[in-house]
Amino acid sequence: MSLSKEKKSILITGGAGFIGSNFVHHWCQNYSDDQVIVLDALTYAGNRQNLADLENRKQFKFIQGDICDRPLIEKILKEEQVTTVAHFAAESHVDRSILGPDAFVQTNVIGTFTLLESFRHYWNEQGNPENSRFLHVSTDEVYGSLEADDPAFSEVTPYAPNSPYSASKAGSDHLARAYFHTYNLPTIITNCSNNYGPYHFPEKLIPLMCINILLGKPLPVYGDGQNIRDWLYVGDHCSALETVINKGKAGETYNIGGNNEVKNIDLVTMLCELMDELASDLPVKPAKELITFVKDRPSHDRRYAIDATKIKTELGWTPKETVENGLRKTIEWYLNDQKWWQPLLSKDYQEYYQKVYG
Ligand code: NAD
Ligand code: DAU
Repeated sequence: MSLSKEKKSILITGGAGFIGSNFVHHWCQNYSDDQVIVLDALTYAGNRQNLADLENRKQFKFIQGDICDRPLIEKILKEEQVTTVAHFAAESHVDRSILGPDAFVQTNVIGTFTLLESFRHYWNEQGNPENSRFLHVSTDEVYGSLEADDPAFSEVTPYAPNSPYSASKAGSDHLARAYFHTYNLPTIITNCSNNYGPYHFPEKLIPLMCINILLGKPLPVYGDGQNIRDWLYVGDHCSALETVINKGKAGETYNIGGNNEVKNIDLVTMLCELMDELASDLPVKPAKELITFVKDRPSHDRRYAIDATKIKTELGWTPKETVENGLRKTIEWYLNDQKWWQPLLSKDYQEYYQKVYG
């Protein structure tokens, strides 16, 4: 069943964050008749500026609120006659989960449970419409860590999360799965690899390195820099999620990845070289002189890699962007949108930075 032509009322949780805001733009561009409702608590990672250009759109509504607030969720589902939930809201940074896991359990587990439970009651009241979907956006980190020659993660790889972040996401995935098997709720889970692109908060590797290069600050590479991530341009993630909403089968899981495995040290070196080429007046040039190896992250997963065969063969999705081109676009965005990231380097951010990097 393809739902691509049906008019939707889509509730996007976490739509003011990095991937969520890219997805809101993607959806509004491609489905101009759909009603789009963003629910976001605007934590440190949420930024209403990310959606500023959509505020005047007729079928767009921004609601500041918490996914743990059940009466609020129930009200939104009913008032907006929601057909589709795209659930991005989460605490998403591994290093923060090591410093303080509480918020991760609260938002990722209890918040997802609250959404599922509210949607279940609403869906039942509506007479279990077939075209409803609850898309639970998750991560490859739930599968744990790969050795160099292990096969990539597939949809049947057993879960083995190693950080409070990935453990809390694993818990939320299990709930989304159980709601399909127990109540037939049309949930779909996606497990995606590392994203990069515009609106990425500067605590994650790529934006942090870009900004530190521009400021002439050290580039902290954890451990020996040999850890591998499978990088996916955020626009490709958004198109994959659109495909899953329209063509995915309820109760299924789809892995999403970029076929771009890169060692951290090679990625940081690539960023330095691109910055040398694209930025004028860098405080330190060549930028790679700023690379500094620092203490490793506890239980740092060695390698992630995604086998995206299922979404390719069953739904026809493949990524479009190469790492080199995607990084070029991303760097250009950070160079042109300094007004976006400068206010984010606030006192809170400096305190966080001090705790992690000393
Ligand atoms: P992010 O941290 O940039 O954004 C999270 C958003 O959720 C923010 O806008 C924040 O304000 C909001 N939020 C947090 N707690 C909330 C709450 N209790 N109620 C309502 N809103 C709340 O995260 P991201 O990187 O955009 O990730 C989005 C989703 O995608 C997450 O579920 C994450 O696990 C998953 N994911 C991320 C990546 C990645 O590389 N960033 C890869 C795969 C999957
Ligand atoms: O794999 C998907 C996951 O990717 C998402 O679920 C998470 O939400 C997202 O944050 C990301 O997790 P990672 O831990 O892989 O991303 P991060 O950008 O924090 O780190 C990427 C790699 O770079 C990782 O091996 C740790 C390393 N690193 C990170 C930072 C912030 C450094 O070497 N130095 C740093 O300062």
